[in-house]
Amino acid sequence: MTKIVHIPQVEGFEQEIKCMAQAILRDETVILPTETVYGLGAHGLHSHAIRKIYEAKGRPQDNPLILHISKRSMLKVCIEGEVSEVAQKCMDAFWPGPLTLIFKKHAQIPQEITAGLPTVAVRMPAHPVALKIIEEANVPVAAPSANRSGKPSPTQSQHVIDDMDGRVDYIVTSNDSEVGLESTVLDVSGKIPVILRPGGITKEQLEELLSVEVLQSDSVTEHHAPMAPGMKYTHYAPDAPMYLVLGSVEQSIDYINAQVLIHHSRQERVAVIGYDEYQTRINGDFVVSLGSLKNQSEIAHNVFNALRLCNQKQVDVIYAIGLDEKQLGSAIMNRLRKAAGHQCIEV
Ligand code: TXA
Ligand code: MG
Repeated sequence: MTKIVHIPQVEGFEQEIKCMAQAILRDETVILPTETVYGLGAHGLHSHAIRKIYEAKGRPQDNPLILHISKRSMLKVCIEGEVSEVAQKCMDAFWPGPLTLIFKKHAQIPQEITAGLPTVAVRMPAHPVALKIIEEANVPVAAPSANRSGKPSPTQSQHVIDDMDGRVDYIVTSNDSEVGLESTVLDVSGKIPVILRPGGITKEQLEELLSVEVLQSDSVTEHHAPMAPGMKYTHYAPDAPMYLVLGSVEQSIDYINAQVLIHHSRQERVAVIGYDEYQTRINGDFVVSLGSLKNQSEIAHNVFNALRLCNQKQVDVIYAIGLDEKQLGSAIMNRLRKAAGHQCIEV
């Protein structure tokens, strides 16, 4: 039986927070709110607690997990060797926050965390409730996104309840995840920093901070750096087939409206994922806006919820309109591409 515990803030909920920390120390699974997406947490140093995460998610065992810490001193039980200058700068600038760093792993990190890799992923989340639970537990907490494997990541407590009620020991419900996309995964274990997964912290922000070019894994060949192993799996997929339409917004809308007519002639229902500026010109059966094209943070915040809403409407096909890949646009498009199973239509 899953127990649902509402913890909207730290103040006044100290007792509930202690209970959740104790549950982690008893090797139970606890879903935590974070600023990126909800995470499915368990004791990060105990193999059998970590195995419960894979079971609850239905996640392939070769996809490694991120360790979540509440203070820098916890790094010493996670990583081997000195923290490089690049890593130090990243932590100073973006921790706590949506940036995961890849380090050489400490010998005591269970292989269930790293899926056999010599490296380990570590992040300090910015959500005060998550931070406080980790601080009370005083151990690194392993936490992948708390969705069933392959489904959109959960950014609202209802998403987590829909996916995980009955599969974990505790669900902490709180406010909606502010960022709405998972953290940027940055490999700082080699000479050159490489983004393995675009996310809440952008390439542009990292380059400005580090004054060097930061590579992104799709621009890196397999001889240079390993991708985040998770990148090869189906992700975020809604139930209906989805197409990502690339081109100018004007042309995309014309194309989609023509497709809608064809689908209607076959009695098929169509969902369209678009933007505030063009809402009234799109003719789908269910039209959802990610927000204004002038506000990338708003769009990022809404992506996963929009994918889940399309599922609830039980449509036969989904079209999403692409956007500019600069800054946060890179992470947004990465998630839309994967949700579409890379079915892109250039118009
Ligand atoms: O924002 C986030 O990062 C959320 C919240 C809960 O913190 N967590 C999250 O975890 O997105 P997950 O498991 O869904 O994604 C972790 C990603 C995967 O793509 C995985 O392959 C990669 O990080 N990863 C983990 N350890 C790695 C390592 N040692 N080397 C390369 N990639 C790694
Ligand atoms: Mg995930």
